[in-house]
Amino acid sequence: MTQDSQDRRKVVVVTGASAGIGRAVARRFGAQGASVGLLARGRAGLEAAAGEVVAAGGRALALPVDVAEYAAVDAAAGRVEEELGPIDVWVNSAFTSVFAPFCEIDPLEYRRVTEVTYLGSVHGTRAALARMRPRDQGAIVQVGSALGERSIPLQSAYCGAKHAVNGFVEAVRVELLHEGSNVHITIVQAPAVNTPQFSWVRSRLPRKPQPVPPIYQPEVVARAIAFAAEHPRHKQYWVGASTVGTVLAQRLAPALLDRYLARTGFDSQQTDAPTGSRPDNLWTPLDEGDGHDYGAHGDFDDRSHSRSAQSWLTRRMLSLGGWRGR
Ligand SMILES: NC(=O)c1ccc[n+]([C@@H]2O[C@H](COP(=O)([O-])OP(=O)(O)OC[C@H]3O[C@@H](n4cnc5c(N)ncnc54)[C@H](OP(=O)(O)O)[C@@H]3O)[C@@H](O)[C@H]2O)c1
Repeated sequence: MTQDSQDRRKVVVVTGASAGIGRAVARRFGAQGASVGLLARGRAGLEAAAGEVVAAGGRALALPVDVAEYAAVDAAAGRVEEELGPIDVWVNSAFTSVFAPFCEIDPLEYRRVTEVTYLGSVHGTRAALARMRPRDQGAIVQVGSALGERSIPLQSAYCGAKHAVNGFVEAVRVELLHEGSNVHITIVQAPAVNTPQFSWVRSRLPRKPQPVPPIYQPEVVARAIAFAAEHPRHKQYWVGASTVGTVLAQRLAPALLDRYLARTGFDSQQTDAPTGSRPDNLWTPLDEGDGHDYGAHGDFDDRSHSRSAQSWLTRRMLSLGGWRGR
């Protein structure tokens, strides 16, 4: 790294920065003094996120964009480089889903979930690599999920997209290793997190959706993502003991887990409260209508953990260099 690049602010792009985990990640990089390009669709959420980044000590550039459209993502990356400088870190967090049994998800809805959650990550990665590879410098962090390792009922479109994300990230990582690149891609597999998704994702469930406990606050995952951006050679990060347990159980006894989830997986994703009719953000952002900012946290603050001992220990061991990990 040159003296010039050490002196300038780190430039970070976060997709899905208007809410949830992406919003917490943007704030965290803001607190590090970074220049943060904020990509999502909702203007109220983006403006509020930009305000938080600046208040935390960073610079912010909010760019309304739908990650399903590659040209728009690439244009946004160009704007970030023009206005903030060369991109050092790119975080793909944007996603959408439909909570419903497979046969109740319309093919167009399925396509939309795939185009946002899977192709949105492909688009972000491509826009980042187009700029990082010629400079031979940069880190891409994909926000993954335990559900990309182990599918659950009522989320087939999302689980399929998250499995696909794992597949393409692995292939890209190997290509970068093959060319001896100093650009790195890594993935952070998150546990259940208290974000607005459970209030605004399209749902056909009879009762209000909830993350499957144990639930973590978005800041727990944001800490892991910021660490992964500093240590992007590591293949993947697991956040939370529940993620470790899920991945290991899937590797050891997948068929047994199928039966367990068939018994528990419907109830564990719903509270006791009826859903009622609710607007959703599948095709358009929800804050477009009323200008309401949904923020980083969802409705489950009282049930969410602010720390993960497992994630802390992983970061500690990797920092000390005593553990090669996965
Ligand atoms: N929450 C969890 O339990 C959990 C668990 C494991 C992994 N994750 C992963 O964490 C990431 C973030 O999830 P979250 O729970 O924070 O979600 P969230 O609260 O629903 O936030 C999603 C973000 O993506 C944006 N977005 C949605 N559709 C978009 C589109 N077409 N184009 C651009 N931006 C779009 C949303 O903003 P706009 O609507 O304004 O565009 C919002 O900023 C996802 O990759 C998810 O797979 C979450």
